[in-house]
Amino acid sequence: MKFFVDTADVNEIRELGATGLVDGVTTNPSLIMKAGRDIKEVTAEICGLVDGPVSAEVTATDYDGMMREAAVLSEIADNICIKVPLTFDGLKACRALTDGGRAVNVTLCFSANQALLAAKAGATFISPFVGRLDDIGLEGMELISEIRTIYDNYGFATEILAASLRTVGHVKQAALIGADVATVPPAVLRALFKHPLTDKGLDAFLADWAKTGQSIG
Ligand code: E4P
Repeated sequence: MKFFVDTADVNEIRELGATGLVDGVTTNPSLIMKAGRDIKEVTAEICGLVDGPVSAEVTATDYDGMMREAAVLSEIADNICIKVPLTFDGLKACRALTDGGRAVNVTLCFSANQALLAAKAGATFISPFVGRLDDIGLEGMELISEIRTIYDNYGFATEILAASLRTVGHVKQAALIGADVATVPPAVLRALFKHPLTDKGLDAFLADWAKTGQSIG
């Protein structure tokens, strides 16, 4: 399973990237707003920090506008992945962009049928939003499972990018189902490292080590 970080905070991306665990980055207009920086400038910086795909989202809602913005965003770096919404015009843009050799992440997916359309439109990634479905009382993870089945039934190459993941449990469930990618906020990625027994065990080892009076190197 690949891990993408869901943020436009370059300090977080730099720190987490140093672990070698970050395979890509996803951004969206809300994350750019949160970063408080110019989209082109911050996206270029992010593209320089990771080798994998960096999703940058168009904000136009019509096909022509999306294609214009995609051209501008594509100029930023080779590892830009254009993010388009799952709408009629978004999927039309997805087809045109992937036919032109550009990676495309189709975002705001909330149903299996939408994911089926995105795969038929040649999407590189489909982003089903787990947490936002949970927020309205539905089982977000069921959507990941349904999409996995449909894509496997037909051999679609579109990668399932589990998005809107809010907990370590979400990450585990997405991995068990077989999502290709999990995009996680930095806090969730950091939480994946943690286990109380790891902390307790380490404390005990260090206490015993101190009693030996030794040092390594
Ligand atoms: C990623 O591509 C999505 O934009 C993101 O995961 C949405 O997460 P949220 O529902 O927590 O805002």
